Amino acid sequence: MSGAESPSSLDGVEIVLVDDAEEAAAHAASLLAEAARAGATIALSGGSTPRRAYVLAAGLEPDWSGADVWLGDERCVPAEDERANARLLRETLLAGVERAPRVHLVPTELSPDEAALAYDRALAGVHLDVALQGLGGDGHTASLFPGAPSLEVTERRAVAADAGLEPWVPRVTMTLPFLASAAHVVFLAVGADKAEPARRAFVDPPSPETPASLLRSRSGRTTAILDRAAAARLA
Ligand code: 6PG
Repeated sequence: MSGAESPSSLDGVEIVLVDDAEEAAAHAASLLAEAARAGATIALSGGSTPRRAYVLAAGLEPDWSGADVWLGDERCVPAEDERANARLLRETLLAGVERAPRVHLVPTELSPDEAALAYDRALAGVHLDVALQGLGGDGHTASLFPGAPSLEVTERRAVAADAGLEPWVPRVTMTLPFLASAAHVVFLAVGADKAEPARRAFVDPPSPETPASLLRSRSGRTTAILDRAAAARLA
């Protein structure tokens, strides 16, 4: 990957520093395509950052039929709602592949609590190979928001959560322990507005005020793919 400097490590997090957002998307896409080729079980993030990575990943690997794709979190809106992460997936990855993965969506037609319970049950026995995570400006990841009760949950794989920022709709999110069970946790963050949360997530001591700082793969690898702007405050 041109521009990607050799990874450095911060507190057990492998920092992959790239020049810009496009390189970050390309790096994440390459990792996702490789996982799909290997028939992996993958949790994908919502938000705007991964959109380009999903488009590129579909172009790198047209056959995702061996893979299982889950959502690290979902907004409790109808699947065709523009705020739905399911719609993001449909418009990017699923629109670009020739053979689709098995996609496991959150049943948002149910109430948030019922949807979370159903997703939690569906996740029983599921082992994540890759969890692709975003980083919010407030340091959240998935829909695990600063100081939220969801950060304390240990006996569930997915729970309902109140939104900690827009869109102000109820959420269903995978829990910290379940995301941490992934063999490879991969953060993807770009842009100057992620420099401060990235420092809090990857340099400062872990804190419930920065949920991303609490998420590390328990038994595997944790990587942060950052462009120079997002990495600007790591030193
Ligand atoms: C979501 C995501 C969320 C996202 C961050 C960053 O459902 O919105 O899972 O955790 O990754 O909010 O969002 P951006 O990529 O849009 O900055």
